[in-house]
Amino acid sequence: MIELRVNVDPSLTDALGSCLFEAGAEGVAEQEDDEGSWLVLYCTEPEQATRLTAAVDDFRARARLVFPDAEVGPVQRSEVARDWETTWLSALQPARITDELVLRPTHAAPAPEGERTLWFEPAPCFGSGDHATTRLAARAVERAIAELVTTRRSTSELTTTEHATAEAAAGPLDVLDVGTGSGVLCLVAACAGATRTYGIDIDATAIDAAARNAALNGLSAHCSFTTAPLAAVDERAAVVVANIDAPTLRELAEPLLAHVAPAGVLLLTGLLDEQEQEVLDCFRARGARLDGRDQEGDWVLLRLRPGPG
Ligand SMILES: C[S@@+](CC[C@H](N)C(=O)[O-])C[C@H]1O[C@@H](n2cnc3c(N)ncnc32)[C@H](O)[C@@H]1O
Repeated sequence: MIELRVNVDPSLTDALGSCLFEAGAEGVAEQEDDEGSWLVLYCTEPEQATRLTAAVDDFRARARLVFPDAEVGPVQRSEVARDWETTWLSALQPARITDELVLRPTHAAPAPEGERTLWFEPAPCFGSGDHATTRLAARAVERAIAELVTTRRSTSELTTTEHATAEAAAGPLDVLDVGTGSGVLCLVAACAGATRTYGIDIDATAIDAAARNAALNGLSAHCSFTTAPLAAVDERAAVVVANIDAPTLRELAEPLLAHVAPAGVLLLTGLLDEQEQEVLDCFRARGARLDGRDQEGDWVLLRLRPGPG
């Protein structure tokens, strides 16, 4: 078994991970230590290791043109006496993703009594709960839906903001999750009371995994998943969430805002604190206003509303 390790700037881990899956990697694990963020993968064949090393070299050359300050280190290659699947699975542990919910891989121990569990099947896609951005987004989705549900129940004595929220709540309480990965945010939304959730992703493996995870949790009736691009989705949603890298968020700014229902909320994460201002400026230039933020470690979540303010 050959182990490949790449030390990579945190802002590029998602993009490099996607690139490695496209190049044929069967499982990519993220690790952090004193030297920073690492992507680690295992190969059974030397040819596969050579192909994936070339993919990293190619990615590094392209990334340098756009992000000259973001490092992608050389590939460190070594022989290890274990299979990647065991190593990868043992790295996946139950993760508390909100105050309410624990995300638990199917191979983990049974849930302790009283735990509100969301189960997921390990698959080569993002969204196992071990990353700060998943937890930031999960908490924000839960909170946004709780607010909409509450304002639906009581519309008396509302402030202006609450009134606007109540207007959004008048329509179906839909959630659109752009870059759904394992579907985790749709599952959280469905548990929190969303009427319907729509998860989209460019990665067909992720969409298959998300549909399986919805079924595993008995939530298929509330969740739809598709590889259709954002532009092909007709609906506007009361809550739109996107956990994608900052350059892609900026690229998708207009269609993301166009999919938020009037007085709905847009939740963005996948950005580092050093990228916060450029992402905010980009969305403000398209009419959004900041309604709140959250941060875990270096990772930031922005809560935006369509319309100036
Ligand atoms: C960081 S993962 C987020 C997964 C999950 N939503 C979570 O919060 O853990 C980002 C996902 O976005 C997908 N993605 C990247 N660019 C996209 C695009 N333009 N449209 C839709 N999905 C995209 C990737 O395939 C990946 O599954």
